[in-house]
Amino acid sequence: MSSNIVWHSHPVDQQSRAEQKSQRPLVIWFTGLSASGKSTIAGALEQILTQQGYHTYLLDGDNVRHGLCQDLSFSDADRQENIRRVGEVSKLMADAGLITLAAFISPFRADRRIVRDILPEGQFVEVFVDAPLDVCRERDPKGLYAKADRGEIKQFTGIDSPYEIPENPEVHIHAEQVSVAEAVNQLLAYLHESGVLHAGYEPVAIEA
Ligand code: ADX
Repeated sequence: MSSNIVWHSHPVDQQSRAEQKSQRPLVIWFTGLSASGKSTIAGALEQILTQQGYHTYLLDGDNVRHGLCQDLSFSDADRQENIRRVGEVSKLMADAGLITLAAFISPFRADRRIVRDILPEGQFVEVFVDAPLDVCRERDPKGLYAKADRGEIKQFTGIDSPYEIPENPEVHIHAEQVSVAEAVNQLLAYLHESGVLHAGYEPVAIEA
């Protein structure tokens, strides 16, 4: 960055934007293998939060790679750049006062750490969507594991590209053991305990 660029503070800041929305801004960062359930759980949580009057935005790996990050591959360096960009966008969204949900494989610990560190203290919640590789491979909703097994996709996470599991995530979801609704309730309970949710929060109904 050029030394000729000077930060400019504006009169409307994060606090006033958050107060206007009556909420605490936050980045809820979902990490895990492809097909672990990150996007589905993030989408279900976002739906509940918006129904309850919160202002949210969901950044999803597959979608962001259609636009902002369409120039990036799945090399280690490009994944790092992907998470750097998305981390900066998440920071802007949190600065806008939003509860931001980000669902990216984000396989490298150091890159997730960088996102945590650029956000104001306490505004990053790491959610490990933990599904064993075999389960993800079996689900294979986009047929990508099959392609990777046939050698048609290179550098596929869990196959020939690494995934570094989070050491200390705020929330650890055992995705092969719980339903989406149960995972959402686990997250709502965490957000409630952390004082992010307004009083009167209710868990979502679990279908028998
Ligand atoms: S990340 O590693 O840079 O964080 P990101 O979350 O943006 O990945 O994108 C992952 C999605 O891209 C996967 O869910 C899958 O649908 C698709 N994809 C295509 N090629 C690969 C690959 N080589 N490794 C992992 N995911 C891939």
